[in-house]
Amino acid sequence: MRTPLSVVHLASEIAPFAKVGGLGDVVAALSAEQVRRGHRVVVAIPHWRDLSLPASWKLSDLSGTRVPWGMGDEPARFTMAEGPDDMPSVLLVDHAGDRRFFHRPGFYDDPQTHEGYPDNAERFLFFTRAALEAIKGFGEPFDVLHAHDQQAAWAPCFMRTHDAEDYAWSGTASIFTIHNLGYQGIVDPWVLGLAGFPRSMFFPHSPFEYHGRVNFMKVGILFADLVSTVSPTYAREIQTGGEYGYGLEGVLRRRTGDVRGILNGIDDHDWDPASDRWLPAQFDRENLAGKAACRRALALESGFPMDPDWPIVGMVTRLVEQKGLDLLEAAERALCDLPARFVVLGVGSPRYMEFLRRLADERPWQWSFETAYDEGLAHRIEAGSDLFLMPSRYEPCGLNQMYSLRYGTVPVVRATGGLADTVREFDPITRDGNGFVFENFLGDEMVMALRRALAAHSERELWRAVQRNGMARDWSWRVAADGYDRLYAEALERVSGGRIPTLESVQDTF
Ligand code: ADP
Ligand code: GLC
Repeated sequence: MRTPLSVVHLASEIAPFAKVGGLGDVVAALSAEQVRRGHRVVVAIPHWRDLSLPASWKLSDLSGTRVPWGMGDEPARFTMAEGPDDMPSVLLVDHAGDRRFFHRPGFYDDPQTHEGYPDNAERFLFFTRAALEAIKGFGEPFDVLHAHDQQAAWAPCFMRTHDAEDYAWSGTASIFTIHNLGYQGIVDPWVLGLAGFPRSMFFPHSPFEYHGRVNFMKVGILFADLVSTVSPTYAREIQTGGEYGYGLEGVLRRRTGDVRGILNGIDDHDWDPASDRWLPAQFDRENLAGKAACRRALALESGFPMDPDWPIVGMVTRLVEQKGLDLLEAAERALCDLPARFVVLGVGSPRYMEFLRRLADERPWQWSFETAYDEGLAHRIEAGSDLFLMPSRYEPCGLNQMYSLRYGTVPVVRATGGLADTVREFDPITRDGNGFVFENFLGDEMVMALRRALAAHSERELWRAVQRNGMARDWSWRVAADGYDRLYAEALERVSGGRIPTLESVQDTF
């Protein structure tokens, strides 16, 4: 029997309020599953100007406070959003003065320039410090503080340093989850002063120093009771160095006994082909007729002619280096020679957008590119495609390959991170496996994997087998939430045994 816990998450995204990528999906689905299993859950996020507040949610103002900020303080305002009983409460954290940290377009980047806002370090430092002040003000201690990614990475540190004597945290365990080591928050050292630490703590190899700068993610990794990431393979990869560790492999290896990999789940309610409201027809594992209708509708929506009726390869992705778009560029000719059509939905770097737009302009019968954030189209691509391509350079977990598997859309992926943990190469002889996988980050290997997939697609029986294999597995959050329950229990045991990181213990390890 599980004991219900009180859990507070700190994150920059939660769907549908604010979502840029998978982080928003994961925070939403994990926290909802935790509510369903009886935990009391609050999720703190910045009060973004561009928040999408679901209609049924009610807002109430809480009292504001002043938040320590360098030698002085800054005013914070808090609003609580409450929705249906099976959803967590969402605490919206805002600056109440004229700094306008969150009152601007977009989230991390300026949508005009696609560049990160220059004061992102201050924005997320403020969010974290203010969220902790608000939580202390609730008057009821939490069992677990769960911080996600660099935007919330200072929370475990503040708890065990500035707030070390505070009763509010005396029994609280802290967890830091890495969703993507490619975004660390590496900034100039003056930011340390804003975080309330003297310059004397900034010296080579101190917990607050990283190649002459301050690294938010390093702080989170060092001060959390336990560290997790979003797949077992990624948990290993990030400790091996090379391109996966992004310079933090040494720091992670120092904590190797405290790093866990818990594979994300998917929201199997939102992503259910049998009830998906975004689709022109529904379907399931037993009856795939609706999928053929979705496929026809997608071809039409993409502007493809009816003939040739080549297999459709879908991609829904942030257009950034991580996602392996360089391989599409490198293999452009070979891809265009394949008897396949490509539908891509994504926003991101101008370079990749121009490349994809050019392909769609030159070969409108074979390439379709939509540049927008479009939830409905994302669902229609998942449902209407035959194959789904994810040639990632690295992939902490990846959600789209799991959506694809559930929708009978066969993933073609590079064997990295969560993709390696979820997709297994299909063997036409034994009929085991649920997709097509390549190892090295090479355009040729990607094209070979696509060729193997297209060959299987041309044999109806084989294709049914690979589709069915993928559709058979339960990818829901129930499994992942069990993993987090165990992680919380382990961290709480450490706290009750007094085994927690302190400023002294963290400094001593260096
Ligand atoms: P990441 O978090 O690295 O972007 P994930 O695979 O974990 O990768 O999650 C990406 C999520 O964002 C998926 O739910 C995907 O469908 C969604 N997504 C990405 N780009 C778009 C877009 N342009 N329109 C709609 N959904 C998108
Ligand atoms: C990150 C990763 C992605 C992962 C998501 C949710 O954005 O890039 O692989 O699925 O976080 O954990």
